[in-house]
Amino acid sequence: MVESPAVDRRGAIDMLDLAPYATPHRIRTIEREAAALRLSWSGGLVSRFSHLWLRDNCACPICRHPDTMERRFLFIDALDLERPASYAPLAASLGADGALELLWPSTKLDARPHRSRFDPAWLRYHAPEEQRRRREAERSASWDATIAGRLPRITYDEMMQTDEGLARWLEALLDPGVVLMTGAPARDGEVQRVAERVQPPRWTNFGVVFDVVSMPKPVNSAYTPIGLEPHSDLPYYRRPGDYQLLFCVVNEAEGGDSILVDGFRAAERLRDEDADAFALLARTSVAFRYQDETTDFRAAAPTIETGRDGEPCAIRINNWTRGTLDLDPEASDALYRALGCFWRITRDPALQLRLKLNPGEMVAFRNDRVLHGRTPFDPASGRRRLQGCYIDSDQVLSKLRVIARHRPSPAA
Ligand SMILES: [Fe+2]
Repeated sequence: MVESPAVDRRGAIDMLDLAPYATPHRIRTIEREAAALRLSWSGGLVSRFSHLWLRDNCACPICRHPDTMERRFLFIDALDLERPASYAPLAASLGADGALELLWPSTKLDARPHRSRFDPAWLRYHAPEEQRRRREAERSASWDATIAGRLPRITYDEMMQTDEGLARWLEALLDPGVVLMTGAPARDGEVQRVAERVQPPRWTNFGVVFDVVSMPKPVNSAYTPIGLEPHSDLPYYRRPGDYQLLFCVVNEAEGGDSILVDGFRAAERLRDEDADAFALLARTSVAFRYQDETTDFRAAAPTIETGRDGEPCAIRINNWTRGTLDLDPEASDALYRALGCFWRITRDPALQLRLKLNPGEMVAFRNDRVLHGRTPFDPASGRRRLQGCYIDSDQVLSKLRVIARHRPSPAA
């Protein structure tokens, strides 16, 4: 049992991790278990890290490449996994700067003993209890039509010119999954310039940027003036576009309000009203298809995808491109009924956020959560032109994490 001095520097020990991590807490004592170390922190938390995990996460230049920051320690060759005693630390102590210092026995690849130093803030960040707390804090609440009064908004200038503005836009995309941008120049192609703050838009069968206008020979229902049921886009891709940006260039026609529905809220309501229907939609894959002269895209997935916690984590619903249900008659009819229940819920005005987009405004939303649709419009009453594109969640998250390196972060 040892007591350490307080750590007053962040990142004093290079863990080859560019993410911000900070903690006001310090490790007070180290206790050894058979296969793990038990760290007691100031403030009361006790966290455990296995010997194997600690050995694998050594960030020294031998174990991790100092330039690429990638792991090069080969636990599979270096350690005898069947003999945990062979890789238990020979010594565990606290350095003068509060670091956890470990001395390891030789391995099958290196006859010399090995030293590791761990930044306590980094360890604290990875403590299972902290990871759990962070996951719970990130769990978002679903919303209904009342979100109109608190809809995240951002100006074009904030989004295009400041990292802080971009970060707020990205955070809103993650939760509540919808954000309105205002004040952009209402010009052709602007949606692509906005997307490129994050990434070049993803190519789909509609091209890089798609135009939503009524046209004489439509290839898709969006290109007609009819109303559109709440739906998700690109369901016939195994990986549909993660986020959709929908930019208004001109909107002089009567009607054509955008409708947005939190698919998670709709799914929760379905579960409350008809748990069997919810379970059926969560376990039955539905096929989708898009075909034209040169393409034939097909994919199948459940209408409501649930995570390990049983909560909805992705929604896929689109009547135009829904394929043929290749099921037994009883199974197909049960699915039709369940799908009908879910679909009807998405039509409830109490769940629908309605927006009349003005020129220079852009709504962006999470395509696998926020279903979108629109009211019909009268093309004879004026011009209406929206432009849209898709971006990927990997890039959204990456951008946000990079900006977070320079923002003050809440300490764990
Ligand atoms: Fe759509």
